[in-house]
Formats: sequence, structure tokens, C-alpha cells
Amino acid sequence: MTEFAADRLLLFGATGDLSRRKLLPSLCALDADGLLPEKLRIIGTARTEMDDAGFRDMARKALEEHLPAERRGGMAGFLNRLHYQPLDASTLEGFEDLAEKVGSIGEGSDTGVAIFLSTAPSLFGPTIEGLRHAGLAGENVRMCLEKPLGDDLGSSRAINDAVADAFPEERIFRIDHYLGKETVQNLLALRFANILFEPIWNATYIDHVQITVAETVGLEGRVDFYDGAGALRDMVQNHMLQLLSLVAMEPPTGFGPTAIRDEKVKVLRALRPVKAGETVTGQYRAGAIGGQAVPGYDEELGRDSDTETFVAIKAHVDNWRWKGVPFYLRTGKRLPERVTEILVQFRCVPHSIFEGAGGPSPVATHPNHLLIGIQPEENITLALMAKVPGLDENGVSLREVPLEIAMPDAFVGQYRRIAYERLLLDLIKGDQTLFVRRDEVEAQWHWIDAIRAEWKAGNMTPRTYTAGSWGPSAAIGLIERDGVSWHE
Ligand code: BG6
Repeated sequence: MTEFAADRLLLFGATGDLSRRKLLPSLCALDADGLLPEKLRIIGTARTEMDDAGFRDMARKALEEHLPAERRGGMAGFLNRLHYQPLDASTLEGFEDLAEKVGSIGEGSDTGVAIFLSTAPSLFGPTIEGLRHAGLAGENVRMCLEKPLGDDLGSSRAINDAVADAFPEERIFRIDHYLGKETVQNLLALRFANILFEPIWNATYIDHVQITVAETVGLEGRVDFYDGAGALRDMVQNHMLQLLSLVAMEPPTGFGPTAIRDEKVKVLRALRPVKAGETVTGQYRAGAIGGQAVPGYDEELGRDSDTETFVAIKAHVDNWRWKGVPFYLRTGKRLPERVTEILVQFRCVPHSIFEGAGGPSPVATHPNHLLIGIQPEENITLALMAKVPGLDENGVSLREVPLEIAMPDAFVGQYRRIAYERLLLDLIKGDQTLFVRRDEVEAQWHWIDAIRAEWKAGNMTPRTYTAGSWGPSAAIGLIERDGVSWHE
């Protein structure tokens, strides 16, 4: 944790989509609950020419569109915190005016500046140079970076090097917004605040793990970005690998940035290189979702493309705990429902005492599973075997029953905040626990690059799937040949 609480937040890309949809609404919601430092000023910057009043007007419209009315209570006060300075970040000119707008930064004092960089990665280098040039990179400045942080290991390293030139790692905050989700953090509570799971959380008792991140949306207007990225780099490289590392990590010694990130990175480094035959890629064609017709990817894009909008992977974590346990990952756009969930499939009991107790019909015992629903709703379900009530004159029969916890019911009246509220507050305070460290990002890219190299070597192109289906049928084959089915 770095020492100061920011009293200024400098927002690059302030007129962009992320700022309007997530950052400004999150900050306003925090303000309405009295959670922002009293003196915090928010200085927006982007290429667009406008003044403070223009920015406040843009922000007001964004809040009305993206923040529910009941959370807009303190909007007028919040808008007064906003200021704006136009800037072309590709040249050094202009950074001095920006620094003047930000005001003096007292080194060694208990206040300072948090910078949030939500711009095209091509601007990262020039922006950092400009900041340094204008004295906006000293010890009371921290830097937060939003994805995409490169598109392979090499470009990610170049960005990290450029940032590291001006900021030490303990003042760099890399966002993976999945880590800001309450439900994702609850994975740590489930695993490490309960005695029940840890003794059986290993290859002796777990058969396999499935992680699904399914979306119903398509390109959402992000044509160029998405077509240059694809599902593997857009979703697996970051969010899914973070989920996997939280599921697979060893118990950290505490809930602090070093302890947690040290354990996550060990998992990421233990990922076995994946062979082309252990992945399936797909691209959606026109179909229907929830009764609504939707166009195919190529129609949305307006041209042909080999970019994958779906990927399924059979992964392995090569360490003692997870020896021989597959982690099946799948994510895709235009799937039938929006759902993020983790299934932990346990093994069968070693010996069934009910064998032969069922009279003429055999007694089926299903292995237990734990289903962790992350979104849209947070539910935790443990599937257990129970005896079907009765006198059993024709033999015992067993059935699987769910032991279910719906988190919204368990915590009635507790508002679950959107990920950016938590992350922006941690940034302002300087807590790095939920931000991704450089070694993690690079271990993620290392594994992803090898998959892409396999695809290239095998000339692999995505199979088609109908929008509204669960991806290409080969994704089902990938896991069924191990005698496993995707949880649906
Ligand atoms: C982003 C991806 O990082 O995460 C998007 O770029 C994706 O393509 C989004 O839609 C999903 O986030 P969430 O919070 O809606 O699951």
C-alpha cells in the first residue's frame, strides 16, 4: 500500500465509452454514499475541445443514462468536482497546461494524484513521456492502466517497460475489472474462510473444473478493437485466467497485495502449454437469442474475418495439487445466456455401500459438485446425494439434491457495487490487492501466445456456430471425449 490518499483523479480518455458507462457513474455512486475523499477533484482530459462546463454537461448526460435514478442523489455536488483540460497526448505540448490544471503535488505529503489511463495503447508511451515532462510522475502520483495492455507478450512488455520507466511497480495499478466484482472476491472467502473445502481442494478429490463466461452480446460497436483481439485475448488472457488462478492458488498468508499475487502468479506459471487439439474456436452466424433475431459476426463487421468469437480450452495446472485435473474453459459472444460460473466436479465415492441395495434396479450415486455462480446472480450450490424417502421395500433409491445459497437472499439489503466502484476507491487509497502485477500479466501472455502460435502452425480457423447456441459442436466433443459434459 502506498502512503497517500489521492485528492485528485486525472482521467485520460474522459470522453470515451468506459468513462461514460462505468467510471463517471461509479465515482458518482461512491460520492452519493460519502465514500470519496471530501476534497477529491476529478480532472478529465481527452482530445475533444471543451471547458469544465462542457465536461460537466457530458457527464450529467452519461450519469442519467448509466446510473439508476436512486443512486444519483448527490449528482449536483459530484458534477462540481469535475474539471476538464483538452489535450493531444501524442505530443508534449499541452502537458504543462494539464499539470497547471492538476495543481502542485507535494512530494512526501499525504495527498497526491491518481491517474487513470483509459486510452488507446498506442498513446500509453507518449502519455507517460508527457506526464514525466510536466512533473506528473513523482512519488505522490500513481498510475492506473486499463486493458488492453498489449496484444502479445512483446507488446505488453513494451508497455510495462515504458510505464516502469516513470513509475515503480508499487505505484502501478493494472485493472482487470473481474477482480473488482464482489462475487469474484467471494471465491477467496469461500475457499479460505471455510474449513470444509481446503482439505478436498486437490487432485485426490476433484475430477475437473469448468469455467464458463458466456455473453449474449455481439460486437457492441467495438468493431476494430474486437476484430483485432478475438475471444482468446479479450476474455481468456485476463478475466478467465484470473478466475482460474483464484480457484487453483495455494492459500496465501494474508489478504494483502503481495501474498495474494505471489500465489496467483505461481498458478499462471504452472499452466501447461496447450496443444491445438485441446482448443476449439468458433465464430457466430446469424441466429436468435431470447426469441430475438441477431446478425452474424461477419454481417456486424461488414466483412469476412477469421477472428474467433468463441473459444474452449482444456487447460492443466502442472503442480502437485492439480496433477491430472483438467480445467475446461469456455467463453463466447452471442451464446444463449449471460452467465459466468465455475463448476468444481468432485470424484465418486471410493466404494458405494448402496451397490446391490436397490433391489432389481441399480442405485446410482452421482459424484458431488460445487457450482459457483458469479453472474448475473451469485449462487453457490453444492450437489449432494440423499436418500429418497420411503420404506424401500423394492430397495433403496438415492437422488441428487442441491444445497443452495443465494447470496442476495443471505445478504438482503446489502447493495452489491459494480466492479469499478471498488477498484476506483482502492486506486484512490492506494491498495493494490485487486490489481494485476506485471509478472501475472506477462505469465498470462506467455501462455496465450503459445496457443496462438499453435493455431497459426495448424492453420486453424474458427468453426461456425449459430448465435444463440453454446458454440460449435466440437466444443462439446472436446470435453465429451474425456467422458465429461459442460454444465448447462
Ligand atoms: C471486457 C471485454 O473486458 O469484458 C468485453 O472486452 C466483455 O468484450 C466484458 O463484454 C465482459 O465484462 P462483464 O463484466 O460484462 O462480464
